[in-house]
Amino acid sequence: MNILVIGSGGREHAIAKKLIEDERVTNVYCAKGNPGMKKDGIIPVNIAEDDHTGLIAFAEEKQIDWTFVGPEIPLLNGIVDDFQKAGLKIFGPTKAAAMIEGSKEFAKKIMSQNKIPTADYQAFTSYDEAVAYVEEKGAPIVVKADGLAAGKGVVVAETNEQAIQALHEMLKENRFGQNGEKVVIEEFLAGEEFSLMAFVDGSAVYPMVIAQDHKRAYDGDKGPNTGGMGAYSPVPQISDEVVQTAVETILKPAAKGMIANGTPFQGILYAGLIATADGPKVIEFNARFGDPETQVILPRLTSSLAQLVIDLLAHQEPNITWSDQAAVGVVVAAEGYPQNYAAGMPIPSIEGCPVYYSGVAGEDNLSANGGRVFLVEANGETLEEAREKVYRALADAKLSKMFYRYDIGDKALIKN
Ligand code: AMP
Ligand code: GLY
Repeated sequence: MNILVIGSGGREHAIAKKLIEDERVTNVYCAKGNPGMKKDGIIPVNIAEDDHTGLIAFAEEKQIDWTFVGPEIPLLNGIVDDFQKAGLKIFGPTKAAAMIEGSKEFAKKIMSQNKIPTADYQAFTSYDEAVAYVEEKGAPIVVKADGLAAGKGVVVAETNEQAIQALHEMLKENRFGQNGEKVVIEEFLAGEEFSLMAFVDGSAVYPMVIAQDHKRAYDGDKGPNTGGMGAYSPVPQISDEVVQTAVETILKPAAKGMIANGTPFQGILYAGLIATADGPKVIEFNARFGDPETQVILPRLTSSLAQLVIDLLAHQEPNITWSDQAAVGVVVAAEGYPQNYAAGMPIPSIEGCPVYYSGVAGEDNLSANGGRVFLVEANGETLEEAREKVYRALADAKLSKMFYRYDIGDKALIKN
């Protein structure tokens, strides 16, 4: 079996590595991939994610059995629709279904139609009306650019002034380009955050184990929002009961709601949730695997990922099993990330732990060329053990002009 993975980051590295574990898989190609993936036998292919014609031609030439889409941008560009039109198998939502991630307003519509618990919100294009709404509701309050802004279009405002400044940047200064022409203002949800993902095929929902991401750049959840600085799984402070409630009140109604909306979903449905005093509530849906959650969740999958995708593509019930082991993943980022960051630094070898590469270039000698450079992951009988292994491996590595958070997983350890 030959498989093509679309994407180039640590998430795609983890997906491709898991696919390769199935002995029936001959080649896993990754477009564009990155050279760090070669260490695990994955073959990077130099075709851009938005070159659908080029990707389709490649899939035909290499007799790719099916394609797996990692990131949201190709999904929203309709890569699934284009592959299907060409008669090729591909796993991921259509462009219309990926709008659950691509537009906060679309997601909110699906949620209100299906009574899915989420923060109260209102959408605005007028700056003056948005400011009036903030003044009426009062801080803390959350301001989000509608559309994709790579996790950076969200401001959790602690004061009315901060919210109004964010509105100014989004609606008056167009800081997020087209995305910022519309904003969503949301009620602030207090509680512990967690990520619940599921394999979805129409109304069939197969939940994964949960993880917790660390979105802020620095220790203690300080600094700007990033794409994610590390993750761990399981999340013991979130009870099984809360997870079950989230599956029943959020994921299953969302999958059914997408069918009722005429946009059935096949792929990975990601719910970013807050465990509030009134139960789990949605802060966002994504139409794909989370990054870096995937790098700690897939190592816990003990059944074949390739078989799982084959079953879902055939609309059959898959066999899914998970390990009880814990996993911790710590992102190493370039100095300056998420603003302007350093590049060109050599990547040290990391001993004893799996490494998932993202922003790297070069051939035999890898160097940094992205904000998030790589993620070091470790498994253990407990979170403590996994965490200790990761930080020991990182302490032994010579890192120049790169940084990482020292507190990934601390929240779980403090509370238990
Ligand atoms: P998002 O890109 O929507 O995931 O938002 C980025 C981060 O902002 C989330 O991971 C949360 O930590 C925080 N956030 C977003 N929406 C809310 C909300 N309604 N209440 C509290 N925190 C939020
Ligand atoms: N880790 C958050 C995301 O993938 O959107």
